[in-house]
Amino acid sequence: MKCGDVGGPWVSVKGWRCERLSFACFSLPLQRKVGAAPHRGNARAARRHRGCPHRGQQTPATPAPRRRYRDASEQGKDTTATPAPRGANADARAKGATHNGNACAAKAQRECQRRKKQTDLETQQMKIGFIGLGNMGAPMAHNLVKAGHALTAYDVSAEAMQTLAAAGAKTAPSPKAAAQDADFVITMLPAAAHVKAVLTGEEGIFAATAKKNVTIIDSSTIDPASVKAFAELANQNGNAFVDAPVSGGTGGAAAGTLTFMVGGSKEAYEHVKPVLSAMGKNIVHCGDTSTGQVAKICNNLVLGITMAGVSEAMALGEALGIDPAVLGGIINTSTGRCWSSDTYNPFPGVIEMAPSTRGYTGGFGTDLMLKDLGLATDAAKHARQPVYLGALAQQLYQTMSTKGAGRLDFSAVIKLYRKEGNT
Ligand SMILES: NC(=O)c1ccc[n+]([C@@H]2O[C@H](COP(=O)([O-])OP(=O)(O)OC[C@H]3O[C@@H](n4cnc5c(N)ncnc54)[C@H](O)[C@@H]3O)[C@@H](O)[C@H]2O)c1
Repeated sequence: MKCGDVGGPWVSVKGWRCERLSFACFSLPLQRKVGAAPHRGNARAARRHRGCPHRGQQTPATPAPRRRYRDASEQGKDTTATPAPRGANADARAKGATHNGNACAAKAQRECQRRKKQTDLETQQMKIGFIGLGNMGAPMAHNLVKAGHALTAYDVSAEAMQTLAAAGAKTAPSPKAAAQDADFVITMLPAAAHVKAVLTGEEGIFAATAKKNVTIIDSSTIDPASVKAFAELANQNGNAFVDAPVSGGTGGAAAGTLTFMVGGSKEAYEHVKPVLSAMGKNIVHCGDTSTGQVAKICNNLVLGITMAGVSEAMALGEALGIDPAVLGGIINTSTGRCWSSDTYNPFPGVIEMAPSTRGYTGGFGTDLMLKDLGLATDAAKHARQPVYLGALAQQLYQTMSTKGAGRLDFSAVIKLYRKEGNT
């Protein structure tokens, strides 16, 4: 059967395209009565249909009139349009309508194969070394264990390792030992200096992975120049290296819904995606090595500024006498809404799950935000690009750190605004 040759009481031209896809991909019957919901009676296939490239071209509710394409460019347009004159079908075929149908089915089949491969990889057990079990690393490692991967973890904190061991992971006495038999090694560390030590130290990762073609994934937030240097060293050691910093906070890490911003070749991205999928919902290829960090730094520049802005507004509202919960609710349904107001609102009690409500603990440390704004302002200096608000926000977090609040969640910056005795 050719695209354009199907019609009559069973399927429409457009319906057929979708049916044919279903047949090729999901073994559903080719002919089904027009008017039935696509893939009705087969919930699993229907769910898959949502990802079908022809979604939207659904079988119409009433049988479509038999019609031919006026020319190939009409494919995909409304089938209820005025029928083309007789003989136009031959034109359509001559212009490639049939060929497009075949190409389309082949494309769909390739997409199916790609998805199957992806699913196979996601369910395959990998040997993973994991270094850095802090606020973010610990829940991420947990999710890898939950997904069935064989995890060997290391942290300088024995307590952090004990917690993970209780969840079913192996622990190791050094990064080298954690990486010994690994296919992938993930690092989730505070800053570039820690990553360098863990990679190149005597008991570091490179000592175990030389010429073994292990893939190293660094999810810490560090500067792009360091990433390029680490990737170079890794390649010399016979290992692949991708930067894959994250966004989503500790809540996203626990829920497995992080966004990963991946820098590296397309092949490297495809290779790490199944592993990262156990910890995140959005795995985005940003471009070549270090572009993941560029995306992350720019995102955190916004975050540092918006948190200072929301703090300023919430403290002003308090001083002017409005109930902070009411003000928070208004902002969160108005144009001021942002993650700093609706998820991590700095005013205690406005958002139940926010670090501010639990004494500014367990979130994203002020010193880490200070580091990220430093990365942004440094990168901006090299690019000769102004970052007016970023530089000002950096000074606010610097002041917090100087006052000894570096380990508190960065939303504690509101303390700089609230009146003495209120905090
Ligand atoms: N916390 C967040 O919300 C968040 C969000 C996105 C990105 N990040 C980034 O993720 C990274 C980690 O953040 P975090 O909040 O988990 O930090 P954290 O300080 O809570 O955890 C870091 C962990 O690394 C361990 N560590 C330090 N040096 C080590 C070494 N040499 N060997 C082994 N372990 C070592 C520490 O003991 C600690 O457990 C940072 O780069 C941060 O900027 C954090």
